[in-house]
Amino acid sequence: MNIQMVDMKKQYDEIKSRLEPKVIEVLSGGYYIGGPEVKAFEDKTKAYIGVKHSIGCANGTDALQIAMMALGLKKGDEVITTPFTFIATAETIQILGLKPVFVDILPDTYNIDPDKIESVITKRSKAIIPVHLYGQGADMDKINKIAKKHNLFVIEDNAQGFGAKYKDRMLGSMSDIATVSFYPAKNLGAAGDGGLMLTNSDELAEKLRMIANHGQNERYKHQVVGVNSRLDAIQAAILSIKLDFLDKWNEKRRKAALRYKKNLCDVAVVPFEHKNSYHIYHQFSIQVKKRDALQKFLNENKIPNAIHYPIPLHLQVAFKGLKLGKGSFPISEKVAEGIISLPMHPHITDAEIDHISDTIKKFYKK
Ligand SMILES: Cc1ncc(COP(=O)(O)O)c(C=O)c1O
Repeated sequence: MNIQMVDMKKQYDEIKSRLEPKVIEVLSGGYYIGGPEVKAFEDKTKAYIGVKHSIGCANGTDALQIAMMALGLKKGDEVITTPFTFIATAETIQILGLKPVFVDILPDTYNIDPDKIESVITKRSKAIIPVHLYGQGADMDKINKIAKKHNLFVIEDNAQGFGAKYKDRMLGSMSDIATVSFYPAKNLGAAGDGGLMLTNSDELAEKLRMIANHGQNERYKHQVVGVNSRLDAIQAAILSIKLDFLDKWNEKRRKAALRYKKNLCDVAVVPFEHKNSYHIYHQFSIQVKKRDALQKFLNENKIPNAIHYPIPLHLQVAFKGLKLGKGSFPISEKVAEGIISLPMHPHITDAEIDHISDTIKKFYKK
């Protein structure tokens, strides 16, 4: 069995009859940056998510940085987020001279615990960045209520949940600005890098577009200091085709998750899907005992795996300046010790899931 963590080759094989002529069309069209393909993809994504504006950019990290720039956050302002996420969420806060303020996660969904947010709000707090981890929505109603009460902006980091829902609302439609990553392994992935910013505000949309394009609103007329962050036409065209398959692919992930859960519920803490969630299983991550020994066993048995994430951000050397030691966020720390992600993609077979599950069960019977 040649099991892949994410099987990009099988995905490509499924859609190559649509992808290949389109790529050739874009190449021969000579329009490589911006232009009609990017505009068409922006229009398609704004309709899919149900927001007024969709603005392409180079990747999900840039999307976060540009979002905070567009909101006018100033040096020293505090931005509340989770320590149990990919570095990009807090890295972009820090790089802008803002201060990341972490709040621990819920032990079941692994998303930021809304009931702990108010205790860290100060006069300098300006925004909250919930992350929809592993493809399951954070509790947006509670978060937005707190944000409204304290006059804070909300940015949804929706790098991992494009196509997922919270109470029948699309993730990415419930905040001032939402950001998306199209890194190839994402549920909707480019053949390279790509990102998106979503908003219902005309004013923010204009700022986001301007900042992503060197701060210019007209050619060579720079209103603010911006960045260079563009979605390539070829990526937009590829993503546009893949978007037609996304709902079907997410359903397949959900079916795979169900099978894994049935197989593994006796030996691991399997992912919890909240009743408010339509989870799209960007990752299928379980909590286990003796995680490092299990990982070694999986590696020996040629079963791909990954750890999302081994070190919570407050314990990363890059954030030592925040002076947050071990014990600051006990739930994040505990989850980081026991979490492991298994192969998950729309093309995984029942036989592969059963083989992976049997191997894990074998480890715990040893
Ligand atoms: C939660 C989260 N935020 C931001 C990013 C950054 O996205 P990109 O890799 O496209 O810059 C990622 C990417 O994996 C992510 O998982």
